[in-house]
Amino acid sequence: MDNPLSNDPIKQFNEWLNLAKQSEINDADAMAVATATKDGKPSVRMILLKQADDRGFKFHTNCESQKGMELTENPQAALCFHWKSLRKQVRIEGDIEMVSIDEADEYYANRPYNRKIGAHASAQSRPLESRKKLECRIKELEQQYPESAIIPRPPYWVGYRVKPKRIEFWMDNPDRLHDRFVYIKNDNGNWDITRLYP
Ligand SMILES: Cc1cc2nc3c(=O)[nH]c(=O)nc-3n(C[C@H](O)[C@H](O)[C@H](O)COP(=O)(O)O)c2cc1C
Repeated sequence: MDNPLSNDPIKQFNEWLNLAKQSEINDADAMAVATATKDGKPSVRMILLKQADDRGFKFHTNCESQKGMELTENPQAALCFHWKSLRKQVRIEGDIEMVSIDEADEYYANRPYNRKIGAHASAQSRPLESRKKLECRIKELEQQYPESAIIPRPPYWVGYRVKPKRIEFWMDNPDRLHDRFVYIKNDNGNWDITRLYP
C-alpha cells in the first residue's frame, strides 16, 4: 500500500506530536477526550496528553468528575488531536485502564506546588457556589501544607490510559481529497493498516 507513514502507529503519533510542538502556538498535547455513560450518552472535553507509548495514551484527572464517573461505568474512550498548523488529525479509540497507584503518586509528586494544592481544592465538575469559596479553600490548604511539606495525592486524582484498538491518521490535501490511514489491532496484537476514502 502507498502508505508514507510508519508501520508503528505509536512511533508515527509521537513524530507528529513532536512536529506539532514546534509549530502550535500552545498545548500541542491537548486532545479531545470523549466518554459516554453506560447507556451511550456521549460527552467530550479537552485534556492534556501526558505520555503515548506501547501501553497507551495517558492523561491525569479527577475520577469523581463527570468524565471519571463515565469512565467507571463505561471504561472506553475516544481521543482526537487536531493540529491546525500541520493540518493533521489523529483519532484514537480503545478501552480504558487506570494507572497504578505508584504511577499516579509519582506524577502528582512532580506537579508544581500550586497545582498540587489546586487538585486538593477542586471538587472537579461539581457545583461551586462562588469563586470566593474556592479561594478560601486554597488559603486553608496553603496553611495546612506549606511549600516545604510533602502533600499527599488526593485519592481521586488519578491517571487513565487509553489502550488503543484503532488509530487513524488524517492528512489534509487540496480539494478535500485528504489521506486517511487507519491502524486496527488484530488478534495477534499486530496492526492492520487500511487506506480510507476521505
Ligand atoms: C487545553 C486544555 C487542557 C486541559 N487539561 C486537563 C487535564 O489534563 N486534566 C483535567 O482534569 N482537566 C483538563 N482540562 C479541563 C477539562 O477540559 C474539563 O474542564 C475538566 O477536566 C472537567 O471535565 P468533566 O466535567 O467532563 O469531567 C483542560 C482543558 C483545556 C482547555
